[in-house]
Amino acid sequence: GGVTPPRHFLELMDIKPAVLRRMLDLGARAKRGEVAGKPLAGKTVALIFEKPSTRTRVSFEVGIRQLGGDAIVLSSKDMQLGRGESPADTARVLSRYVDAIMLRTDNVAKIRELAHYATVPVINGLTDVSHPCQLMADVMTFEEHCGPIAGQVIAWTGDGNNVAQSFIQAAARFGFTLRLATPPELAPPARLVDWARAEGARIELTTDPVAAVQGARCVVTDTWVSMSDETEGQKASRHNLLAPYQLNEALLRQAAPNAIVMHCLPAHRGEEITEAVMDGPQSVVFDEAENRLHAQKGVLLWALGAG
Ligand code: CP
Ligand code: NVA
Repeated sequence: GGVTPPRHFLELMDIKPAVLRRMLDLGARAKRGEVAGKPLAGKTVALIFEKPSTRTRVSFEVGIRQLGGDAIVLSSKDMQLGRGESPADTARVLSRYVDAIMLRTDNVAKIRELAHYATVPVINGLTDVSHPCQLMADVMTFEEHCGPIAGQVIAWTGDGNNVAQSFIQAAARFGFTLRLATPPELAPPARLVDWARAEGARIELTTDPVAAVQGARCVVTDTWVSMSDETEGQKASRHNLLAPYQLNEALLRQAAPNAIVMHCLPAHRGEEITEAVMDGPQSVVFDEAENRLHAQKGVLLWALGAG
């Protein structure tokens, strides 16, 4: 292998703000139709899913094709990875065939191992503790609707889950203030919050959704039961803990009058977000879903050195 490490896209915390900005700029150029030719011609990307996906799967596959590359979509169930072949050996083998690997996994240790042994870029398509591609799309969406995100206030209400944890990393990398309202039992890890604050991020933690949302320019929530929490016992207790954090019209009225609403989707209407808010005039959730396609083109062009 070469001496230059591959351009992995694992966690926002691993990447400098200016580099993340470059990816977003590349994504915005692709969205405007300003990326000429087929920059991924001759490149193949493996998309590996240990968990279901609609947006990540389709936006990556379509994006790669639109840039002139080939995508192979793989379910870990159909791979030896699903019956115990190690991420390390999978990485060594796939690096001989493909030009980049995207993985969605329920265990962040697996993607770290994959990236350690891969000689091609590895892209994080969601783990139990992170969803950085989602945040690239979210920052793009916020800025399209509200202008530069630095210094703005974004409120999270609900579970301190993988998406919330990537929001914390994004607050450090993009310079916005993040207020998170979560039940104490479901607060994001203190270590991560400490890291973000040490990086200069303004992270405010509360258990009161009204306090978090007060005057915010954007309100965000996500499912009460993530793919890594799907045991029956957890479901009932999460519904009880999270009911007071529902994003409904009463809560949204506490935000800035021009506040936008984001949700990574899939949504559970009537649970974490009401029908009225999801379909209301402040909701940008489908712009956000569309931007997965554009933002990830920026990530791919950067990772594959084609930007
Ligand atoms: N937001 C998101 O990642 O959706 P999918 O699970 O459908 O990929
Ligand atoms: N927090 C959710 C996000 C789905 C895209 C989950 O992990 O299931």
